[in-house]
Amino acid sequence: MPSKKRRRKEERPKIHPRNKYSDNQPDFSLLASLYPSFKDFVFYSREGRPRIDWTDFNATRELSHVLLLHDHGLHWWIPDGQLCPTVPNRSNYIHWIEDLLSSDIIPKTNSNGDNVRGFDIGTGANCIYPLLGASLLGWSFVASDMTDVALEWAERNVKSNPHISELIEIRNARCSPNNPTPEGLNNGESVYSEEGEGLLSSSIGMPASEDKSYHGPPILLDVVRDGERFDFCMCNPPFFESIEEAGLNPKTSCGGTLEEMVCPGGEKAFITRIIEDSVVLKQSFRWYTSMVGRKVNLKFLISKLREVGVTIVKTTEFVQGHTCRWGLAWSFVPPAKKIISPHLTEKNILSFMLEGLQCQFGAIHVLQSVESFFLTGGASCKLNASSFTVDITASTEQCNALLNNEVKHLNEVASCSDVQEASLNLSFRVSVFQQIPGTLLVKGSLQHRDSPLSGLFSSIIQQLDDALRRKFCREKAGANYS
Ligand SMILES: C[S@@+](CC[C@H](N)C(=O)[O-])C[C@H]1O[C@@H](n2cnc3c(N)ncnc32)[C@H](O)[C@@H]1O
Repeated sequence: MPSKKRRRKEERPKIHPRNKYSDNQPDFSLLASLYPSFKDFVFYSREGRPRIDWTDFNATRELSHVLLLHDHGLHWWIPDGQLCPTVPNRSNYIHWIEDLLSSDIIPKTNSNGDNVRGFDIGTGANCIYPLLGASLLGWSFVASDMTDVALEWAERNVKSNPHISELIEIRNARCSPNNPTPEGLNNGESVYSEEGEGLLSSSIGMPASEDKSYHGPPILLDVVRDGERFDFCMCNPPFFESIEEAGLNPKTSCGGTLEEMVCPGGEKAFITRIIEDSVVLKQSFRWYTSMVGRKVNLKFLISKLREVGVTIVKTTEFVQGHTCRWGLAWSFVPPAKKIISPHLTEKNILSFMLEGLQCQFGAIHVLQSVESFFLTGGASCKLNASSFTVDITASTEQCNALLNNEVKHLNEVASCSDVQEASLNLSFRVSVFQQIPGTLLVKGSLQHRDSPLSGLFSSIIQQLDDALRRKFCREKAGANYS
């Protein structure tokens, strides 16, 4: 049985171990000394730590620029306002796909020999995934987009890197064989920031409530050509269905235009269309994958995948700083070996979303409330403001005091095990993750797997959900546990 320490480590997903930045965070001092263009954006805290202003688009763009140059040998730029990728974050997705491709869950059906060929849906002006995939792993890509700016700058970014330019083809999704004339949305001007990040200005007229289905340019069907075969597709979809939903996060600024971030029906509709396209294209792709920004959408999409009869669904969690996103992968290739459903929920981890957060509140307020919720019940708490976690240890009496329900839960515990409840402690961690503006994910992880107190744990997490929802959310909608 793995040790407690190891178990806790395993439960906390983090940066991919093969990610260049897993052991070495970018060294701002070094980069400033090497690249004068970056130097102006670096300042030092009172403790002498080098920092940049994450709310300054020019600073985040310059950081990506120097990281891509210094660590990947890539020449890269984007115009003002376009979505600026955080390089360590984007590398995680590439490494996850690498894991999928090398796993033997489904047989290798590579018709291109050893050359891996991918399709990046919505590559953006930054063209980040093809640039990373080609430079790190020698993969070739078709990279699609639909806006003139994205197509022009993706092409420029490819051409600026002659050593890999042969590997990347930029394709206009609006110029499909059945729709040869580019049409549709024009480039709007807006400001968005990636880690949950804000958006100003509008050019998409449809109110979110009126149409929840995707009705933009083709995504895969009609963009993939007859007879083409790919090892995978990947996608960082437009997450939001309205400007209001996108909100405004003043804490970071990674740019992003309206067309990059918003589509009717949001990511749910966009990925649903990818699923529908995959039903037609079937084994033209070995793996279909997409990022998903919201857990509630992940659940919906997994059930959609079951409906359409895919052979495999895999999910992963990308945690970077205070942002939590999911990777969703599926395939129509018959599995080589039987696997256990990867999305089965472990009872020792329970999570809920806090949606519709009032704008004056952020993750830190929620974290502090988590601490005071448990302190009120007499539990011992350790808040860590840098990892956004609170470690809690509570006796059964303290738990029951929190639940205001002494008899019921002590009885439950006693009836499902013959341990002395008075001698038991419940130890768990509550983590708070930023999802998108106005939405947080709160996750409780029980320290002892198969604890006889897991029933109590789930009641406490429910109670916590109610308390936080009452305090922070505009809508007091019911919880959605997993
Ligand atoms: C969130 S951005 C992702 C950009 C980039 N891949 C990244 O990760 O930073 C989504 C992109 O999808 C593009 N897009 C929207 N609908 C599309 C479609 N039907 N086909 C191709 N790209 C599309 C948008 O123009 C935008 O560039």
